[in-house]
Amino acid sequence: MRGGIMHVLVTGGAGYIGSHTVVALQEAGHDVLVYDNFCNSSRIVLDRIEQITGRIVDFIEGDIRDRQKMDALFAEHDIDAVIHFAGLKAVAESVEKPYEYYDNNVGGTLSLLDAMRTAGCTNIIFSSSATVYGNPAKLPITEDFPKGAPANPYGRTKSMIEDILIDIQAADPAYNVVLLRYFNPIGAHESGLIGEAPQGRPNNLMPYITQVAVGALPELGVFGDDYDTPDGTGVRDYIHVVDLARGHVAALQAVEDGCGLGIYNLGTGNGTSVLELIDAFEAATGQKVPYTIQPRRPGDVDALYADCSKAQAELGWTAVCDIERMCADAWRWQQANPHGYEA
Ligand code: NAD
Ligand code: WQD
Repeated sequence: MRGGIMHVLVTGGAGYIGSHTVVALQEAGHDVLVYDNFCNSSRIVLDRIEQITGRIVDFIEGDIRDRQKMDALFAEHDIDAVIHFAGLKAVAESVEKPYEYYDNNVGGTLSLLDAMRTAGCTNIIFSSSATVYGNPAKLPITEDFPKGAPANPYGRTKSMIEDILIDIQAADPAYNVVLLRYFNPIGAHESGLIGEAPQGRPNNLMPYITQVAVGALPELGVFGDDYDTPDGTGVRDYIHVVDLARGHVAALQAVEDGCGLGIYNLGTGNGTSVLELIDAFEAATGQKVPYTIQPRRPGDVDALYADCSKAQAELGWTAVCDIERMCADAWRWQQANPHGYEA
């Protein structure tokens, strides 16, 4: 580390949130090394990041479960901190392939942590999720809410990894561990050069909306209109991915300051229903989004939104982009890249 500039290993740095975070880190002056096996991302993203920041992106292709490669990486690079995005994230797939999720997410994290321990690297920021709260008893959600029962293996991997990291930090106070519980990241970099590029039919709402708007899919299915919410559709706390990325730069500062254990919600604090998001998208882009009401999706909850005052007070971070901006940026990305990176 030199003068606040950190050398950061970003696992999963070619992915949706990772790529935006690499941009934010480089723009803040940090040196970044991306480690990714590209199982859910494209190499093209690295060129796009270079176009945005004007800086080369150092990267190593590899799997976090490959201990030899991880050991070699830490032997050859002086890493101050790890931002750990790498993992599988598709909820329905995790129900069908639980072994793959526990192996990749939990096993992969244990492999990474062991390599870090061998190298004496004790700083880690982990991509957790609002899913660890399960179905919360009240709203908005603060970090001191008890963790709930996640509805699927994916969510359980996130909760387990949190517990592992909390135990490791408790056993050795030299560790600085920041758990960032993301709410619903959407949107894209304002350049339209990087964004969310799901493989196959999207699982999440915003990429589904943009693919309907661009004509790749005929219509959106709204999963349930009988929830206990003002218009009956599910309410979530959507956060612009660039705001989320800035949250990681703020967390890195906390790590540098020797924060010990820090757990933070990253959201906006605002709840938006499915129908409100469709309206906002249509207003921001002028595109119609045809939809039909369909049955509820198993495992979905009525409403989830964050209280983000802890991140504001302790990290000096707050989300600034509103829902219209999220929609406009998601649409700019989708229009410029109708088939994702591999067009
Ligand atoms: P993503 O799939 O776009 O990015 C994950 C990246 O990790 C991909 O580039 C993938 O190729 C890589 N990867 C996966 N397994 C790997 C392995 N074993 N070794 C090396 N690289 C591997 O997903 P994302 O949306 O950017 O999410 C990043 C992280 O944030 C994930 O851990 C996810 O669980 C978490 N998260 C995401 C959301 C969301 O809604 N997108 C919400 C909460 C938490
Ligand atoms: C949002 C709302 C749906 C698609 C998921 C994961 C969570 C976290 C973020 C990683 C809900 C509705 C959706 C569609 C719809 N990921 N919907 N039609 O479920 O809040 O969170 O991503 O950690 O763990 O579960 O996000 O975008 O899938 O759904 O009506 O085609 O949109 O029912 O109310 P979710 P989502």
